Amino acid sequence: MSRIRLLSDTVASQVAAGEVVERPASVVKELVENSIDAGAGKIDILIRRGGRSLIRVVDDGCGMDRDDALLSLERHATSKIRSADDLQAVATLGFRGEALPSIASVARFRLTTREPDALAGTDLIVNAGKIEVVRDGGEAPGTQIEVRSLFYNLPARRKFLRSENTESRNIEHQLHLQAISHPQIAFTFIRDNRLVFQLAPAAKLADRIRDLYGADLLERLLPLNGTGSGKTNVGGLIGQAGLSRPTRAQQLIFVNGRAIESPLVTSAMREGYHTALMRGQFPVTFLFVQLDPAFVDVNVHPAKREVRFRDPNGVREAIVIAIQRTLERGRAEWQEKFRAPREMSKLTAPRSVDLKLRSEIIAPPVSQGELPVAPPESAVVEPVPRLPAPLEAIAPQPQRASAQEFQIIGVLNKLYVLMENADGLVLVDQHAAHERILFEELRRRMEEQGVPSQKLLIPQTFDLSPRDAEWVERNLSILQKMGIGIESFGPNTYKIDSLPAFLRTSDPVNFMQRVIDDLKDATDRSSAMRLGEDMIATTVCRHAVKANDPLRFPEVEKLIRDLLACDLPYCCPHGRPTMVQISHAELEKRFGRKV
Ligand SMILES: Nc1ncnc2c1ncn2[C@@H]1O[C@H](COP(=O)(O)OP(=O)(O)OP(=O)(O)O)[C@@H](O)[C@H]1O
Ligand SMILES: [Mg+2]
Repeated sequence: MSRIRLLSDTVASQVAAGEVVERPASVVKELVENSIDAGAGKIDILIRRGGRSLIRVVDDGCGMDRDDALLSLERHATSKIRSADDLQAVATLGFRGEALPSIASVARFRLTTREPDALAGTDLIVNAGKIEVVRDGGEAPGTQIEVRSLFYNLPARRKFLRSENTESRNIEHQLHLQAISHPQIAFTFIRDNRLVFQLAPAAKLADRIRDLYGADLLERLLPLNGTGSGKTNVGGLIGQAGLSRPTRAQQLIFVNGRAIESPLVTSAMREGYHTALMRGQFPVTFLFVQLDPAFVDVNVHPAKREVRFRDPNGVREAIVIAIQRTLERGRAEWQEKFRAPREMSKLTAPRSVDLKLRSEIIAPPVSQGELPVAPPESAVVEPVPRLPAPLEAIAPQPQRASAQEFQIIGVLNKLYVLMENADGLVLVDQHAAHERILFEELRRRMEEQGVPSQKLLIPQTFDLSPRDAEWVERNLSILQKMGIGIESFGPNTYKIDSLPAFLRTSDPVNFMQRVIDDLKDATDRSSAMRLGEDMIATTVCRHAVKANDPLRFPEVEKLIRDLLACDLPYCCPHGRPTMVQISHAELEKRFGRKV
């Protein structure tokens, strides 16, 4: 007796649905993608109870005639590709002809559709994959699909659904992806009778981001203006250095208009941000990679969430470069803000009150007499006497005496430098600022002639595990450039006779072991230069001016000048912000001067 038999279409669809329809958000994704592919200018989405009880998607796209409407429910029925060749270069979001039959097989499904110039439309009702009603219907041109009681016929699947709130949030995230990738389409999202958002068609991505996330976020984004190498174009907007999030929720990546998840792109972005991103945090990105459809395979994931690039290295490089350049440009814009000193504004409190306030917030060692209310234009920039001596040796070149670009008001809590600039109030974290300055200085030295090293009084030998020894062997030259005098002294034994001059450690062996532990995982994927940078970043922190180290005014002023001269002044080497700007508008809002 034969044991193999063909599955019925319904069962086959349910099996396929297992991959295509994981949760309510997948249904929303597929339906909205279809609306986009149908050329819709407006898409309305309504859900109830996290999408379990109802998902309705209404579009004003091309609609379908009756034959097509019936065909759309067959597996492998699609209008989007015809041959295997077409699969090599898919230009639409859909291409498999699987979404509708899969969804219809696991819910109560209703499709109403009409072509714009047709007299009548079609209304279809399908339950658990069986077509039950076919009749005339469809009022407005376009397509409306209702999915009720998702997984009602598959109790096991239903059990796996998360709370209504979680499912709703997943759906909303999904819609954000669609809305961001298609700003020209109007979207309305209603959840349980509440309007969550209503987005008018936007001319530009930036407008859509403002509508969805607010002007504050947009202000902190930088446009990636279509830079790219070769065939890959990288566009969109990304967060400026120092802007980050604890989750990936605002790390949006699109390839040819399709939202995707990609470890390759994510790691390229990290590389591009490098020290501009706080460790363990995620960047805010609306990154659009555009490339010839023939260079990307979209048919590699059941939910079409991943793609495969034909030239992954090319894509990676294009992203890294685009992000690096954009962050550098952002730096120039930021510095611009410090030009054009502002007259002491009318908002400044009367002098007497002013002084009282100041005496409370200024670090004790800074006496009233030194208060820099308006330092002379030609203020001489002095060296920083209170910094540890070795730091002085490598302090950046004195700045040319340029016009005063900011006014220092004082130091709060021995940590935050308060300044006034054209835009309002700026707070600088003096510790983070010093880290950034040291980091860039050391990096420059490393690139040029190597970091100066200091001989140890007594050279030390130590043993390493074979794996660590192998790592040291591989990175010997970069370690030496970093000012670490290390050489082989027998199998798995090393001798260390000098350390970077800026370093103050009494235990060179322990220091070395820590460097190895911190960096050995990183090196496999990064260059020698990057290793050096990581090493500086991990060591610099311990030597930068600590919070609570009181600085004298000239030191503070020099610190700010040096900071502004950095490549990436607005965050420390670990990506924490060095400065926070509070605009006049924000202050006015807080004081109720403006609504
Ligand atoms: N909203 C819509 N407006 C017009 N036509 C639609 C709409 N939704 C689906 N269709 C038609 O139904 C067909 C089947 O849709 P379905 O989503 O199942 O497959 P697909 O989009 O071709 O591929 P995929 O399974 O990758 O999504 C589509 O190819 C399209 O022709
Ligand atoms: Mg589809």
